[in-house]
Amino acid sequence: MAEKILRYDYTNARAEAVGAAGLTTHDMAEAEAHLARVYTQAQAARSGWGFTKLPYREAEADMLTALGNELAAQCDDFVVIGIGGSALGAIALHSSCNPPFYNYSSRQARGNRPRMFVPDNIDPLLIGNLLATLNPARTIVNVIAKSGSTAETMANFLVVRAWLEQALGSDWKSHVVLTTDPAKGALRALATSHNLRCLDIPPDVGGRFSVLTPVGLLPAAVEGIEIKALLRGARDMLERCAGTDWRRDPAFFNAALHYLFDVRKNIRMNVLMPYAQSLRDIADWFRQLWAESLGKRVNRRGEVVHCGLTPINALGATDQHSQVQLYVEGPVDKLFTFIHTDQFAVQTAIPKGFSTDPAFAYLSGQTLNKLLHAEEFATRAALTKAGRPNATISLPAINPYYIGQLLLFFELQTAYAGELYDINAFDQPGVEQGKVFTYALMGREGYEAARAELKQMELARPDCII
Ligand code: PA5
Repeated sequence: MAEKILRYDYTNARAEAVGAAGLTTHDMAEAEAHLARVYTQAQAARSGWGFTKLPYREAEADMLTALGNELAAQCDDFVVIGIGGSALGAIALHSSCNPPFYNYSSRQARGNRPRMFVPDNIDPLLIGNLLATLNPARTIVNVIAKSGSTAETMANFLVVRAWLEQALGSDWKSHVVLTTDPAKGALRALATSHNLRCLDIPPDVGGRFSVLTPVGLLPAAVEGIEIKALLRGARDMLERCAGTDWRRDPAFFNAALHYLFDVRKNIRMNVLMPYAQSLRDIADWFRQLWAESLGKRVNRRGEVVHCGLTPINALGATDQHSQVQLYVEGPVDKLFTFIHTDQFAVQTAIPKGFSTDPAFAYLSGQTLNKLLHAEEFATRAALTKAGRPNATISLPAINPYYIGQLLLFFELQTAYAGELYDINAFDQPGVEQGKVFTYALMGREGYEAARAELKQMELARPDCII
């Protein structure tokens, strides 16, 4: 276990700190037996959670590091084509483990690494405008889809492949790396039939839990991020969260906190607010993880429950000037989690200037680091004073090791929450339905029944278009 660890503080979620909206000792005592039982059950179940095996795949990390180095030397630009769990992890690692404005700095400043683009949408302007800025001969494209068939990814792949082929002829193949299921799906079949380089996503790891598979690790390795440090952090978090006492497991505690605020306080909106620009996309990655894993119509016994907690992203200090008015004075319907960073990679002094003006005088000679910390403490104190429950996760620093801890913390928290609600946190039937209807609307063979269903829905639509 490393010397420094991520810390978790729920002081301000207690009634002693926030009054009526907080959890009392009685609330905790009443829930104790249930939480302890679910924790025991979760500890027994967790060896079956695919994502918990990933931090131990050292040999794969070595292979990906070597491949990342090789690809980095071959390209000026690395483009990831994927969506949802096949994009958000790569984006989160890119922005948390690299300095800001990575793509804008010189190749030398990037450690002789390529720029990185993850156009995770099918907005017609997005891909076309991106490709217009790139040189196909110096671009590598990593197409990622666990299912091997997601419409957005397949369409963007076709656009990018045609662009490569037009410029490079049959050499387009050496500019493409696929990442998909080891045996199933159209991408895997394509890899075999066209002899394309292809990496595996373990069958027991779903998209939103796949950041520590080649889905997130290959793009990170191309950028020179220390992926073994990510795995080490993840391992340390896994091992820290493996005891017999749920109160000693911070990931379970945070899951339990969210669960208790839901069932006892009717609080189902969860704001995650990092105070670090480079953690903004981690909050975005978590938003998908929490929403898709817990938003479920039925529980594991088949009963209709319409379970779900709504994740909301905010960024300190930026959103103090956008959301905090609502958070402090609006309805008491949110549980806040701050992410604090003890130490930033740099310290930026605020130079002295205009010192006769009080609006500048108190800032002069201080640091942006101190101001950001002060704003975080002030916002937390203001929320607490206004009776808004909150917890804080503290990172000693932002680097691959602590990011690895944080990712595993959130993945475990999510899987534990699935146990608390007795729902399947690893499927996404609601997303699948939308995919099926898209195939139907785009005329895909085999989706005639869905097409007919959509037609029926259209016919049944009351006259409510104005
Ligand atoms: O978590 C999930 O399973 C989803 O969000 C998927 O990642 C997303 O739908 C993309 O799927 P695929 O990787 O098959 O293209």
